[in-house]
Amino acid sequence: MKKTILCIGAGYVGGPTMAVMADNCPDYKVIVVDMNEERINAWNSDELPIYEPGLDEVVKRARNRNLFFSTDIIAGIKEASIIFVSVNTPTKTFGAGAGKAADLQFWEKTARDIIEHSKHDKIVVEKSTLPVRTAEAMRRILQSNTKNLNFDIISNPEFMAEGTAVTDLQTPDRVLIGALETVSGQKAMQRIKDIYLHWVPEEKIKTTNLWSSELSKLVSNAMLAQRISSVNSISALCEKTDANILEVSAAMGMDSRIGAKFLRAGIGFGGSCFKKDILNLVYLCEFYGLPEVAAYWEQVVKINEYQATRFVSKILNNMFNSVASKKIAIFGFAFKADTGDTRESPAITVSKMLLEERATLAIHDPEALKNAKLDLADETGDISYHCDPYKAAKGAHAIVVLTDWKQFQGYDYERIFKSMEKPAFIFDGRNILDHKKLFKLGFNVFPLGQREYSHLTEIEK
Ligand code: NAD
Ligand code: UGA
Repeated sequence: MKKTILCIGAGYVGGPTMAVMADNCPDYKVIVVDMNEERINAWNSDELPIYEPGLDEVVKRARNRNLFFSTDIIAGIKEASIIFVSVNTPTKTFGAGAGKAADLQFWEKTARDIIEHSKHDKIVVEKSTLPVRTAEAMRRILQSNTKNLNFDIISNPEFMAEGTAVTDLQTPDRVLIGALETVSGQKAMQRIKDIYLHWVPEEKIKTTNLWSSELSKLVSNAMLAQRISSVNSISALCEKTDANILEVSAAMGMDSRIGAKFLRAGIGFGGSCFKKDILNLVYLCEFYGLPEVAAYWEQVVKINEYQATRFVSKILNNMFNSVASKKIAIFGFAFKADTGDTRESPAITVSKMLLEERATLAIHDPEALKNAKLDLADETGDISYHCDPYKAAKGAHAIVVLTDWKQFQGYDYERIFKSMEKPAFIFDGRNILDHKKLFKLGFNVFPLGQREYSHLTEIEK
């Protein structure tokens, strides 16, 4: 094989990214390492550590051919000439910048491991999402080596979304590669570009300077999240004015300058990155003395929190101001459909608020029950977990839809309605169900940003 590529960090990004790379580049050996032994064992087993449509096939094709998962970080560093670093970069929880800045301790540890164990020059690729100018700090750390080794730093942020990771990686909108404008930096950039050229058309590979690349990743996430907060803020106004957010989004989206994607109103965005990356952007703006810019972006996060709280208020207001001792069936706990990931899922916020109101929760999700149990492990309320939606809904006063799983649309709601307490409520936090049909079955239906369908009289309400 031509070269050995190493990826440090076998998480939601490192695993799928390297599996697709190995699948498309049989002439490269790709090793993915992680300090988490359980995760590596799972990557080497039939039950991968993450659920992602299409991933099993890709991993099975390449694993033990030119794709290897290992805990031997040192051997990997010694062997590889190109190292992708895809470790986690969470929000700092301590010290300066706590609650906003990125915690770079995992990144810095890998940089130090690379210096200690390298025996020849290397290209180090930032795959993790990092604050703009991190590469400068990394370059200083790496160049502090006393072995006279040269390290080129490349920024190659990842834009895949969970649930569609394999297609996103296989046919990306763009691949972004940033490098220093030095001879060595440009040479390193070409070597990373050569890897992607195995399966990505050249016109989709965008090369920039290092800082533009680092910043573009943060801003792409901030812009996507900003669209969601914008549409969610308008969903509140729709409810006051009898406008319908689906119609408003569709009308706006037909303008080719606005575009139709990412205008789905819901209970707010979740996932491990949007919030952390915006807060990181806010921190950077504050750090560089731009408080107005910081406040602008921070509002995107504030509206997101408001939307989840607003949704819980809607549940309470319509269920006679109390859910105490009432069984609520939660449909969906993952932060979005087609993943088992629950990191920053709005379902966590909504569930905790309902538990505070002393509701009994019956949680149903096709893939995320294991993570849901961990997320709610410290809660003292009455919670049960169900693979079977009919068991979750039996005897419930309300169904609360928190994830946009397609299969929720195909359930037998007539059967569900018959098994529930009356009056039976559905709060569709993702606007995915057929509200008129449910109303005809007898449900009182409360979508987001659209008219409600209620059998209750004004006096009952
Ligand atoms: P993750 O937590 O799933 O995976 C990170 C892995 O790195 C963990 O398994 C951890 O054990 C390992 N690790 C940490 N320090 C290590 C070290 N010193 N040596 C070896 N292993 C180490 O995180 P993720 O979701 O894969 O995200 C990784 C990065 O990619 C983050 O910066 C994130 O912002 C970015 N990103 C994530 C997504 C996504 O969809 N999750 C998409 C694009 C970018
Ligand atoms: C997001 C970006 O889409 C990726 O490009 C990026 O690489 C990734 O973050 C990252 O850096 O981690 P992801 O969080 O996996 O990907 O999933 P999205 O599809 O973006 O959904 C994020 C959240 O927004 C979900 O909770 C989803 O339900 C919500 N959403 C999305 C809406 O509420 N409305 C929409 O119209 C779209």
